[in-house]
Amino acid sequence: MKLWGDYKHPVLPCQALMMYEGLMNTQKKLIAGNWKMNGNLADAKALAEALGNPSNADVCICPPYVHLGVVATAKSQGIALGAQDCSLKDNGAFTGDISAPMLKEMGCSYVILGHSERRSYHAESSTQVAEKAKKAHAAGLVTIICVGETEEERVSGIQNQVVTTQLAKSIPDTANAQNLVIAYEPVWAIGTGKTATLDDIKDMHAVIREFLKEKLDNSSAIRILYGGSVKADNAKEILAAPNVDGALVGGASLKADQFLTIIDAA
Ligand code: PGA
Repeated sequence: MKLWGDYKHPVLPCQALMMYEGLMNTQKKLIAGNWKMNGNLADAKALAEALGNPSNADVCICPPYVHLGVVATAKSQGIALGAQDCSLKDNGAFTGDISAPMLKEMGCSYVILGHSERRSYHAESSTQVAEKAKKAHAAGLVTIICVGETEEERVSGIQNQVVTTQLAKSIPDTANAQNLVIAYEPVWAIGTGKTATLDDIKDMHAVIREFLKEKLDNSSAIRILYGGSVKADNAKEILAAPNVDGALVGGASLKADQFLTIIDAA
């Protein structure tokens, strides 16, 4: 058990109580950049170099597969490399797929799985996400498993049920507090400029935290990221919300100045 005096930074009594009760994640925030299918080799190299060596947050960048090699060389030691997906197989006749061991060999430590663009454009089910996550865990990767409701589901008031069902089916039994990160990304907020309200974010992150607490040991150490139109100008208040342990950033991760401002806000 840690005592108040063990924490390097001054903590408020309420924070100390939350830490004591294991309700607050005391790790650095994780800021992950999802570059999606953007840029060319020169852009990828320039962007990776421009990010320098941030130390106030854990930072991970996820370029397209074919840019992983150049980014692995151009980025600083302090930035981790991630991929945007992986195969549910390790090797074999699966044309076009890339396996988790291949990603590990390229220097990846993270892989994003179950992003809503994969779920909708490639009809990926939560069951497949769990299969991929098993392979990723076996290869030693940390999985960033994405969940989130559509606009219709939120309007119908079933968002909590949708997200907890996705969690239940997408998290395999190989997951633990060291290899699992959850990203809550309401589908209607991705790339649209619409951000969920702080109350929406707080409420859903509390639902996810409760779910994790029931399913996994030491679950308070699992980071829950928010994603969906996180920008330089809204990052600070989103990252300060309870149970928000970082951000998964799409569009704004493609501009070094914006991404660095988000990292600074962590
Ligand atoms: P966005 O994307 O920041 O552009 O909304 C987030 C994501 O899709 O991970």
